[in-house]
Amino acid sequence: MRDHFLPFALPDMDEAEVAAVAEVIRSGWLTTGAKVRAFETAFAERVGARHAIAVSSCTAALHLALEAVGVSPGDRVITTPYTFATSGEVIRYLGAHPVFVDVRPDTLNIDPDQVAAALRRERAAAILPVHIAGEPCDLDALREVAGDTPIIEDAAHALPTRLGGRMIGAQSRVTCFSFYATKTLSTGEGGMLTTDDDAVADRCRIMSLHGISRDAWKRYTAEGSWRYEILAPGFKYNLTDIAAALGLVQLGKLDAMWRRRAELAARYDRAFAGCPELELPARGADNQHAWHLYMLRVDNDRLAGGRDALVTELRRRNIGASVHFIPLHLHPYYRETYGLQPSDFPIATREFGREVSLPIYSRMTDRDADDVIAAVHDSVAALRR
Ligand SMILES: Cc1ncc(COP(=O)(O)O)c(C=O)c1O
Repeated sequence: MRDHFLPFALPDMDEAEVAAVAEVIRSGWLTTGAKVRAFETAFAERVGARHAIAVSSCTAALHLALEAVGVSPGDRVITTPYTFATSGEVIRYLGAHPVFVDVRPDTLNIDPDQVAAALRRERAAAILPVHIAGEPCDLDALREVAGDTPIIEDAAHALPTRLGGRMIGAQSRVTCFSFYATKTLSTGEGGMLTTDDDAVADRCRIMSLHGISRDAWKRYTAEGSWRYEILAPGFKYNLTDIAAALGLVQLGKLDAMWRRRAELAARYDRAFAGCPELELPARGADNQHAWHLYMLRVDNDRLAGGRDALVTELRRRNIGASVHFIPLHLHPYYRETYGLQPSDFPIATREFGREVSLPIYSRMTDRDADDVIAAVHDSVAALRR
């Protein structure tokens, strides 16, 4: 058995990131400046979008995006319950209401047929799909049912993800990425919003920094002006140059980090393919999965104590397994505010009950992965009915 704990996630940073941050500190310019602009330019190019706006989190990006497309109090926004807190709360920030629709049983991504059914029942101001784990949603089907309703993608897990040959980041009105500590590109905290829509980009940029007229961040530079105008009550969502310096180095390593996670995923696939108690993560043959998460599904009938017992057994064997996600309709706030029952979204409820996520990050060695594999086999054997 492994003699020390393998964390569920670790960032992949080395002396290059340390040097980049040291350079920013020595420059004397810590907050939004040249590094943020360089990061935005490089990111926009990487995903093939006209605009990229760096912000303090994916949550901030989603809030700005919904605001920019006009989501207002009382509006409805269609989203998935199978997600993290963010996807629901950003809708509530604007006084709008989430309309949850169930997910597909294979990918756990929002089901376009359910979106179509919801749109037949009521008008929506936006649709907010989430690319769970890094496997893309069926955006072609979503676009078809959405018509004019703007799609705002939660791509917190989806870098670098491809749907068919196309990178996620330039396929909907707005796409929002996360650079949180556990994500596939990390700046500690941070996010990016990408769009091809000039008006949306303008609005998001202004609202990301107090609703102040363009280039407000330049007011302490030689070419900036002390004069500014507040055009709307905006937010304080800008990214720092310290974080952007990390982001630039991480972007340079993005493909190498992805290749390592893909290798680990393939290693897990091979190890668990013959295991009747476990179901492998779904992925489309033409897609590129980002492998932010490796989500197994457990056959609860075959294991004493089911998924919960498996997580406990893995932790006892020093493997930091986790569960993604407790669907939003099962949480007290959404349950009580909207009177939701577990049976309202039967697939999300059922699949949550049998999901377990294994560690998958580029700093993991083959030995680490083999320890995970051995612990899974060992735990399954211990719990097998
Ligand atoms: C699906 C999803 N959306 C959004 C977020 C929020 O990202 P951030 O922490 O950058 O706001 C997360 C964070 O883990 C997430 O899992």
